[in-house]
Amino acid sequence: MMLEDKVAVMYGAGGAIGSAVARAFAREGARLFLTGRHLARVEGVAKELGSAEAAEVDALDEQAVDEHLQSVTEKAGRVDVSFNAVGVADAEILGVPLVELDADRFSRPITTYATSYFLTARLAARRMVAQRSGVIMTVTGLHSRTGVPLVGGYGPAMAAKEALTRALSAELAPLGVRVVGMRPQAMPETGTIKEAFEVRAKALGMTWEQWQETLASRNHARRLMTLDELADAAVFLASDRASGLTGTTVNLTMGSLDD
Ligand SMILES: NC(=O)c1ccc[n+]([C@@H]2O[C@H](COP(=O)([O-])OP(=O)(O)OC[C@H]3O[C@@H](n4cnc5c(N)ncnc54)[C@H](OP(=O)(O)O)[C@@H]3O)[C@@H](O)[C@H]2O)c1
Repeated sequence: MMLEDKVAVMYGAGGAIGSAVARAFAREGARLFLTGRHLARVEGVAKELGSAEAAEVDALDEQAVDEHLQSVTEKAGRVDVSFNAVGVADAEILGVPLVELDADRFSRPITTYATSYFLTARLAARRMVAQRSGVIMTVTGLHSRTGVPLVGGYGPAMAAKEALTRALSAELAPLGVRVVGMRPQAMPETGTIKEAFEVRAKALGMTWEQWQETLASRNHARRLMTLDELADAAVFLASDRASGLTGTTVNLTMGSLDD
């Protein structure tokens, strides 16, 4: 098993990506501490996995994140992986042209994504630096690197997270802590992508099926990635087999975006 005895803390673990990665981490032997803004969703995932622990933690609340990490280190003795899969609801941020967008709606994803990643990474890093090992991980989207209409501040938010991954790694890698992001295209089985389509459906002028085909036609594989494929990549990146990987966001767009 690739993550045997690794202690992993996950934020947004009740979401589509968080729960898929949690399942893959559990399968590979990780000891999981799952957190989310609403306990019920995370508890559902923890129950399904059997051995995982669930807690309600707002990933924007510094004290709550810190107290939770404290409880993890008291129970498990260490933190090996911090995985931030927090997402802002598409309906709150997408669908409005930039020229009509108010500043609050524009800055909400930038503030939320960057702050939550910063807080969870920084507080985990303090424990990881002390133990001289650990991996900090998150997820972004290809909007970080390419213009996409009607996504408001989402692109700048993803770019900020990728810049933070590089900056964190520059400071932490010399101390034994790797920092790695993952940039998938779109996984249509997630509610997020369905919602992202629905809030822009009129402007896109396509059906759900046509939109998926259009997205798929932009990558080399001519199909969209599955959650399981993303989760398998996450397992590798979290494992010691990826010891040479830090300071980068792995391009999982299957050729939709050139490096
Ligand atoms: N899905 C895709 O195909 C895809 C592709 C590329 C990039 N991404 C990115 O990957 C990330 C996760 O996507 P997803 O599809 O898994 O989204 P999701 O299913 O909506 O999950 C996001 C999770 O974040 C939680 N959350 C929101 N605010 C939080 C906070 N302050 N503290 C703790 N938890 C919080 C939500 O919990 P509650 O429901 O309890 O509020 C939810 O469980 C997003 O950044 C998304 O943009 C997704």
